Amino acid sequence: MEKDILTLGIESSCDETSVAIVKNGREVLSNIIATQIDIHKKYGGVVPEIASRNHVESISYVVKEALKKANVTLEDVDAICPTYGPGLVGALLVGLSTAKAMAYASRKPLVGVHHIEGHIAANYITHKELKPPYLCLVVSGGHSHLVHVKDYTKFEVLGKTRDDAVGEAFDKVARTIGLGYPGGPIIDKLAKEGTPKYNLPKTHFENLDFSFSGIKTAVINFVHKEGENININDLCASFEEAVTSILIENTVKALYELKIDKVAIAGGVSANSYLRNKMEEAGKKNNFQVYYPDLVLCTDNAAMIAAAGYYNFMDGKRSDWNLNAVPNLKIGE
Ligand code: KG4
Ligand code: ZN
Repeated sequence: MEKDILTLGIESSCDETSVAIVKNGREVLSNIIATQIDIHKKYGGVVPEIASRNHVESISYVVKEALKKANVTLEDVDAICPTYGPGLVGALLVGLSTAKAMAYASRKPLVGVHHIEGHIAANYITHKELKPPYLCLVVSGGHSHLVHVKDYTKFEVLGKTRDDAVGEAFDKVARTIGLGYPGGPIIDKLAKEGTPKYNLPKTHFENLDFSFSGIKTAVINFVHKEGENININDLCASFEEAVTSILIENTVKALYELKIDKVAIAGGVSANSYLRNKMEEAGKKNNFQVYYPDLVLCTDNAAMIAAAGYYNFMDGKRSDWNLNAVPNLKIGE
């Protein structure tokens, strides 16, 4: 029997302070998430300086809770894996500095993790049988990428957004309609009561890139022009339909190009029920298997970071004390 490997993940790239312990990259022993959503709600979005300060206040407690809940000590942990990018620099630094201090004091290896690779790895926790290669559609508040996951630590970006990320479009549309922050879950709920009867523009490119600012602007202009006459539920359904059809079209195109029959969805927007259903429908029609993480693992959390950290650790990756926060870190770097 090989020894179990425990990784401790730390996530603080945006507005969640989270620490988790994961066994062998797949089994969550603890996943403590302190969310700041209620604090940022009144500003209509995340305020970076406020996020950093709240991370500082929460981090020690969250670390202690994660170890306690997993019933382990720092001594039992094999590697300490913080997100070091992409994200808000001040926010990232809190988790990264904590990880460095813990790794130095306990003489454990430090393994920096890419936030998006973490989102992708969330699927390994939910689907124990999932193995590369597969295609991953990463859709979060900051990113919209089609990624060829060639191996656990080998990625190729096939297409990405040329302007807004999908989650960002959800949040801006929700703000325009006056639905509050974050917009994704609210639009998801209201759209279930509506029909996609409003026509919104869909941008297509020759390659696998995306664009969502046109849809967002069309919704904003429509709301300003039509005002009270709009049925909000129908508008939410129309917006979701437009976004989802673009995402699925490119996904299917990429699957054919790569001759792959597995697609995973990851990131905050992978929580969207319409996207999940439509992707499954497309999978049945085009013969591909669809994977997405449990709801709690879709939005930012440290279990996904610990899972990605495990595969990097097993691959021999070690970070040194000079590891810095990289706000615009590219995937695969
Ligand atoms: O992955 P995440 O927690 O943070 C980033 O890495 O960006 O994603 C947050 C984004 C927000 O834009 C939020 O509105 C969106 O995910 N989101 C959703 C849903 N739940 C969260 N979007 C659509 N439908 C949802 N159910
Ligand atoms: Zn994220």
